[in-house]
Amino acid sequence: MKVLVIGSGGREHALVWKLAQSPEADSIRANDLPKLARFAKENRIDLTIVGPDDPLAAGIVDLFEAEGLRVFGPNKKAAQLEASKIFAKELMSAKKIPTAPARTFSSSAEALNYCDEVALPVVIKADGLALGKGVVVAHDRASARQAVCSMMEERAFGEAGRRIIMEECLRGSECSVHALVSGKSFRMLATARDHKRARDGDEGPNTGGMGAVSPADNWNAEREGNFISSIMQPLLDGLTRNGTMFRGLLFPGLMITDAGLRVLEFNCRFGDPETQAILPRMKSDLLPLMIATTEGGLENVAIEFDSRFAVTVTIASSGYPGKYETGKTIEGLENAARLPEVQIFHAGTKRQDGKTVTSGGRVLAVTALGDSVPQARERAYAAINKIHFEGCHFRRDIALRPPHA
Ligand code: AMP
Ligand code: GLY
Repeated sequence: MKVLVIGSGGREHALVWKLAQSPEADSIRANDLPKLARFAKENRIDLTIVGPDDPLAAGIVDLFEAEGLRVFGPNKKAAQLEASKIFAKELMSAKKIPTAPARTFSSSAEALNYCDEVALPVVIKADGLALGKGVVVAHDRASARQAVCSMMEERAFGEAGRRIIMEECLRGSECSVHALVSGKSFRMLATARDHKRARDGDEGPNTGGMGAVSPADNWNAEREGNFISSIMQPLLDGLTRNGTMFRGLLFPGLMITDAGLRVLEFNCRFGDPETQAILPRMKSDLLPLMIATTEGGLENVAIEFDSRFAVTVTIASSGYPGKYETGKTIEGLENAARLPEVQIFHAGTKRQDGKTVTSGGRVLAVTALGDSVPQARERAYAAINKIHFEGCHFRRDIALRPPHA
């Protein structure tokens, strides 16, 4: 059974929650492409928006387009930009786009030999998608060798580690740029700075993102100008010359170094948690922008952003990004949501026995807007202080200090 619920208030939330418990209702997994296409067709869906990277890499856009369905996101060929770090490196090298110098390996013996001579620290990356875990910064030779073995021999990330990249470790501060791209045209949306490490002071392991501030506090008009001329334009030129039409959201992850901007990676979809900081600042309607991105006319659509700042703090389960427990009851959501300029996004939650419980590593993203970063921070943390579940963990220093670069 496919059930459509009209309306978007608390009443409908309760109806959907109740209906979803029926064994006849089922949601479709993001990687079941044929089933998704059938659903969109049967339900005459006007626009499908693809959130995660895997279905893009698997060619969901090609499939939908072949079926005559309107879909927002790059096709399989264009999504290689994120799905193959080697493809991205080769394109950047051909177009002289600034990025860390790298070597590619398809033999583990050669990669292991290189571990003996490479300058440290070195960054080791699985070529393919690895749920954000395929990047290791190795500070000594033993950890470099271990990363190579785990990716190439033990295949910790499956086929994604058949080939790897070893590249120079860059220093600086990171910035996530979001732009809509339609072939050769593009429109900048907004920037955000993600906080990737698990603990305060940028310590602990890398995560999917523990919080973000938008606009990025390390970005300015001069950097944007450099970004457009040295990264965006040559990239789109390189892609279209190859006959690759990228249509969708392009999110380059940049390192701002003393020597200028460097591309760390290209993502082909909205960032998480960047989106939770960027979209609450967006004044324009997103829907016509997405349609123009897929069908053309992107140049003519207005894009307006609130000049205020957004701070987003991720609340995670204890143990994330490692092993964590789920099923913990979340208290205080209603009180938190009532605070001014606060928006709570659910990431890993579900309803169970009339309660909201945790169901993932990153559980909630709490965003607040403010006239200044300190005001936005204060509001976000005021909301967080009302929310509690067993083992809940969040960083207290999101957007606290602008990075030095
Ligand atoms: P990526 O998936 O390539 O963005 O890598 C994930 C994270 O690893 C980045 O957001 C950076 O924090 C870090 N990283 C990737 N490449 C480098 C590099 N060349 N130097 C320093 N850190 C890096
Ligand atoms: N927050 C980083 C990402 O979405 O890849």
